[in-house]
Amino acid sequence: MQKRILGVVGSPRKNGNTDILVSRVLAGASSVGALIKLIRLGDLDITECDGCHVCWQGEHCAKKDDMEELYREIIQSDGIVLGTPVYWYGPTALMKGFIDRLVFFNSPLHRGLIRGKSLMVVIPFEETDMNTVKPVIDFFDRCFTFLEMKLVEKLVVPGVSRKGEVVTKSEKWLREAFESGQKLGSGLT
Ligand SMILES: Cc1cc2nc3c(=O)[nH]c(=O)nc-3n(C[C@H](O)[C@H](O)[C@H](O)COP(=O)(O)O)c2cc1C
Repeated sequence: MQKRILGVVGSPRKNGNTDILVSRVLAGASSVGALIKLIRLGDLDITECDGCHVCWQGEHCAKKDDMEELYREIIQSDGIVLGTPVYWYGPTALMKGFIDRLVFFNSPLHRGLIRGKSLMVVIPFEETDMNTVKPVIDFFDRCFTFLEMKLVEKLVVPGVSRKGEVVTKSEKWLREAFESGQKLGSGLT
């Protein structure tokens, strides 16, 4: 059956390293027949979760913003690729705000809508010390273990700073992104 793969770019920098890598994962997924969609959080209006917990009592989130459509996209997808650069040893504010809104799926009413879905994370950063990215990986690991999702792949790309540098840095990262997308798109992970 054709897989639906959703890519979510959490960098505010359009056509930057995260954007390029997530797009490359989606290109890999598309090459094996998956239906793909790319979303840039920076283009959307997503307000912060204020813990009202309306989502724990009914069908909907109380916030009327672009997350309504994104919840639908997440529910329909078979696999999700989340990309964020390291910003001060954490994810970007855009990505953190998006993850906060996933509290919707923490509700017992909605957990079944995402349980067991495959996820991949893509994390470029400037430094070359792998300890830099550890807090971001731990963050994703713990969030998605909690949500009972499968974090199947982590593509960590050190030493990229300038916009689009990942293209000239090494073919290796783009190839790995493409191959991960092929696996995700064919349901091998
Ligand atoms: C506000 C800000 C904070 C950053 N903090 C870090 C950091 O703590 N460690 C690091 O290695 N790179 C850091 N960077 C560099 C980015 O991770 C790097 O430039 C990355 O390639 C940007 O990806 P993008 O092109 O997708 O935005 C930071 C960049 C910005 C703008």
